[in-house]
Amino acid sequence: MLIRKRRGWEIPERLATPEDVYLNRRQFLRALGATGLGVFGTLIGCQQVDGRSVTEASPPVPGLPPPSATAHLYPAKRNERFTLDRPLTDEAVAARYNNFYEFSPRKERVYRLVEAFQTRPWQVEVTGLVKKPVTFDIDDLVRRMPLEERLYRFRCVEAWSMAVPWTGFPIKAFVNLVEPLSSAKYMRMVTFYNPEQAVGMNDDTFPWPYFEGLTMAEATNELALFVTGIYGHELTKQHGAPIRLVVPWKYGYKSIKSIVRIEFVEQQPPTFWSTLVPREYDFWANVNPDVPHPRWSQATERLIGTNERRPTLLYNGYGEFVADLYRT
Ligand code: MTE
Repeated sequence: MLIRKRRGWEIPERLATPEDVYLNRRQFLRALGATGLGVFGTLIGCQQVDGRSVTEASPPVPGLPPPSATAHLYPAKRNERFTLDRPLTDEAVAARYNNFYEFSPRKERVYRLVEAFQTRPWQVEVTGLVKKPVTFDIDDLVRRMPLEERLYRFRCVEAWSMAVPWTGFPIKAFVNLVEPLSSAKYMRMVTFYNPEQAVGMNDDTFPWPYFEGLTMAEATNELALFVTGIYGHELTKQHGAPIRLVVPWKYGYKSIKSIVRIEFVEQQPPTFWSTLVPREYDFWANVNPDVPHPRWSQATERLIGTNERRPTLLYNGYGEFVADLYRT
């Protein structure tokens, strides 16, 4: 069966990322830091000040696109309503451990493969059951939206997690702008398709382009964000530049990257992973420690960067915001 051939996040994390590979990478970075070599010298110099990632010199982050017409809007003001129960993940770690199958099924390889990916000019088409169908230039859209920074936990279905400062705007603000019709019950989102720039898209066992969906109640929940920045600057390519979804109470596969189309529809849309492996990756994907994945437990998670294990929280700890959506 297709999925048995795949590597990466369909298989248990301990198989996807052998511990020795992971540790070797950390040792490599530490060694560079100790000798102060090259561009990585500034990377190792990253510090957390007041929960923010601060760097003293030139950009240490791989995958950062050239500054766009809206680059000056970062960092945006932080919304203090959303607080963390754990330290922020080191930016250098988050930037080198990514699920983005369009580039590679190997998390540690993605950031090395994004260089040719062009994230400007970029357009986002809004279509379907909507009063104002429109195609936005990404910078026009960003200028019209209220950008803010939020610290969120982020839990992958593979049982690793991170805590990062996203910058973006509530989807509710976007919905108010484009005005879906009352017949729209779901919001469907689609990623770009460009196998020349994204080598993983040449693997035609996947139903490219990546596609996802939310109910309108989920999309307009106050937690749901369209994200255009991370760690106080524009989104890096490997995190889904120039615009991605972040829904922190759901497993990470719902948070679709590099969106080019947003469609309002009446029926529950199929999704990329539920099409490939329906038994393992359902439409809802709400984080729940008591419901194991068919092939591994979801009771605990590994914090990338420190490898600390923590109990997984129901709805990833965001029950006060979202539990009402799922009461029957
Ligand atoms: N979006 C697209 N287009 N392609 C992908 O492969 N992977 C998903 C999600 N969005 C994915 C995607 C998965 S499985 C996870 S865990 C998160 O992106 C990872 O986000 P990060 O790399 O920013 O941590």
